[in-house]
Amino acid sequence: MANEVTMEFVQGMPKAELHLHIEGSLEPELKLALAQKNHVDIGQSTIEEVRKSYQYDDLASFLAVYYPAMNVLQTEDDFYDLAMAYLKHAKEENVRHVEIFFDPQAHTSRGIAFETFIKGLYRATVDARAMNIDARLIMCFLRDLSRESARKTLEEALPYKDMFIGVGLDSDEHNNPPMKFFPVFVEAEKAGLRLTAHADIDQKDSIEHIRDLLEVIGVERIDHGTNIVEDPDLVDYAVKHQIGFTSCPLSNSFVRPEMKGPEIKELLEKGAKICINSDDPAYFGGYISKNYYELARQFDLTKEQVVQLARNSFEASWISEEQKAIYIAELEEYARTH
Ligand code: HPA
Ligand code: ZN
Repeated sequence: MANEVTMEFVQGMPKAELHLHIEGSLEPELKLALAQKNHVDIGQSTIEEVRKSYQYDDLASFLAVYYPAMNVLQTEDDFYDLAMAYLKHAKEENVRHVEIFFDPQAHTSRGIAFETFIKGLYRATVDARAMNIDARLIMCFLRDLSRESARKTLEEALPYKDMFIGVGLDSDEHNNPPMKFFPVFVEAEKAGLRLTAHADIDQKDSIEHIRDLLEVIGVERIDHGTNIVEDPDLVDYAVKHQIGFTSCPLSNSFVRPEMKGPEIKELLEKGAKICINSDDPAYFGGYISKNYYELARQFDLTKEQVVQLARNSFEASWISEEQKAIYIAELEEYARTH
């Protein structure tokens, strides 16, 4: 069983990525190039210095490094280049469909117009079609900011509603429960947007947050969310309602000392729609295939389990049933012939 799953196998495997923060795909090379072009002092001037600044051991210390780096993103083309750089990685790893998170408030709060980043990011998703990747956008609210700020962000976003498919909730979960944003989620759903939200790993009140997300707010997916295993009844509920879980093993091992391998396997075995993603690949040591591979290697996943995770990625995605069937047939064919 060991080594049944190779890096080559997971790289070539058709898959969807559903938990990817575009700002978290900003590699040190592009960060430095944009800093220089836009005359932004980020406090580092070499790749080594940038890498040395990547010191974090929980969500809050990660976010403290993550947000200041975004200052280098200034123009529509900067956002386009950022997204295209990610999409090229995705292409190399046979990501067939991707739903990309972006954080409007991390940009509007520093004077960048909504129009600037949405147009740059959206243009990249259109150009992704030429690479045979289906790319969509999901707008996230920063949960450490106020509900009013989220509400204003939604209002600002609605004229661009055709450029993104749903809303999510990210940033620091500590003392920022999902119910703080309940009315904003209601408004978003009324506007025809799909709903997801982070329930980061090992947060205070995690089960309560997950329960409110599922039973009150009614999200279709939970980003991370593996603490749900602590409440078997809630797992049953999630399985019954086909709730997606977007887990990110490498990210987990940065903000905690573990990948949550046993929890991922348990949810997989119970039939939950759990899938594997990269979260912030430029900060957490790798893109989606490395996440699949390291999980499989360290927790002895079989090829069938890895393929099931990829099947789940399509099933939990926000594409049509017809399109899901096409991608899954492609995946089955790959699994049969590799
Ligand atoms: N959790 C919360 N906020 C984030 C994350 C995450 O995984 N990645 C980027 N912002
Ligand atoms: Zn995330």
